[in-house]
Amino acid sequence: MYTPAITGSGVFTPPNVITNDELVESFNAYVDLYNAENAEAIAAGEVEAKAHSSSEFIFKASGIEQRYVLDKEGVLDPTRMYPKFRQRSDDEPGLMTEIAMDACNKALAAAGRVGADVDLVICACSNMERAYPAIAIEIQQALGAGGFGFDMNVACSSATFGIQAAADMVRSGSVKCAIVVNPEVTSGHLEWRDRDCHFIFGDVATAVVIERAEDAQGDHFIVHSTRCATEFSNNIRNNLGFLRRNRPDGLAERRDMQFMQNGRKVFKEVVPMVAAHIHEHMTEEGRKPEDLRRMWLHQANKSMNDFIGRKVLGRMPEEGEQPNILQDYANTSSAGSIIAFSKYSDDMEKGDVGLICSFGAGYSVGSVIIEKA
Ligand code: COA
Repeated sequence: MYTPAITGSGVFTPPNVITNDELVESFNAYVDLYNAENAEAIAAGEVEAKAHSSSEFIFKASGIEQRYVLDKEGVLDPTRMYPKFRQRSDDEPGLMTEIAMDACNKALAAAGRVGADVDLVICACSNMERAYPAIAIEIQQALGAGGFGFDMNVACSSATFGIQAAADMVRSGSVKCAIVVNPEVTSGHLEWRDRDCHFIFGDVATAVVIERAEDAQGDHFIVHSTRCATEFSNNIRNNLGFLRRNRPDGLAERRDMQFMQNGRKVFKEVVPMVAAHIHEHMTEEGRKPEDLRRMWLHQANKSMNDFIGRKVLGRMPEEGEQPNILQDYANTSSAGSIIAFSKYSDDMEKGDVGLICSFGAGYSVGSVIIEKA
């Protein structure tokens, strides 16, 4: 058995920012257009008028101040309200591969590695651009990596589930150097016309390199243990799937073909699930809350993270113990905890222990206990 270690991480941040004010301005313009177009039906009580959104609500309810997106124009166009991506030929890299490569190259550079050193690529994220061939295999080719690659989707928990799969394979010796990459084009699955959720997501890509600790070229984090759990829930759901065309309404536009959630229920049910999960994982590993220097949590909602931090530590987390990035990036699905880890881990000292935790649809929760070597 080998000891797996995270030896590098990287983040691709899209060039376009949308602030809450910009988002709300375009959303409200869309609402005004919609209400004007449906004025008669609304007056007759046949259609419900849509309500304006507000920046104050968004910040208060979520802690989000802005988000990055791959295409700003399409999202903010009140007559469109979703991104505009060009059609790519089958012979050029897909959009997910393009953003994944940026994050992979940064993670490999941090690890002192090149693509040819990699013998496992896991593309772990919430949405795949196509059914097959796997995005991971396209990334494997673009990296010049050997071995094999596969896609996995555990929604917002994909990164930690991917780290568990890679760390287990490194531990057993079936691979030597893995890259787990999370290209999240969440702007494609978000319903930007729904006031309840239009502010939630942002685009990004993250990657981590996992290899044998003995092979590490520089600073690294030992992966002591991982723990994944799932429990079925319909409270976060997206019904878009390959059987769509065959059903009675075929390809007709339907709300459930995009991200949907019952946010209140998710909040209430997932917070205790995650806190109990972390507590059990730590206890099994013989570790106490005071052993933790830092937690890098999934980035969905500031109050959610505050609750989890308080439950795990038994007190309010101190500055730097639980860094949030959601104010800048919004919810980036599987990538959130890895952005936090990548941006806030350089100051960890030898022997410092931390925990990466992601959670979300499924429900699903994954945690990774690491130590700076
Ligand atoms: N602007 C202004 N008002 C809004 C609004 C908007 N954009 N969206 C909703 N509201 C209104 C609602 O209509 C409601 O009004 P009412 O009280 O008169 O009925 C009120 O604000 C509260 O809405 P609610 O949806 O209950 O808000 P919330 O406090 O639960 O916050 C979330 C919403 C989504 C931010 C929150 O539930 C959340 O983050 N949940 C966790 C979800 C999550 O993490 N999901 C991702 C998967 S990991």
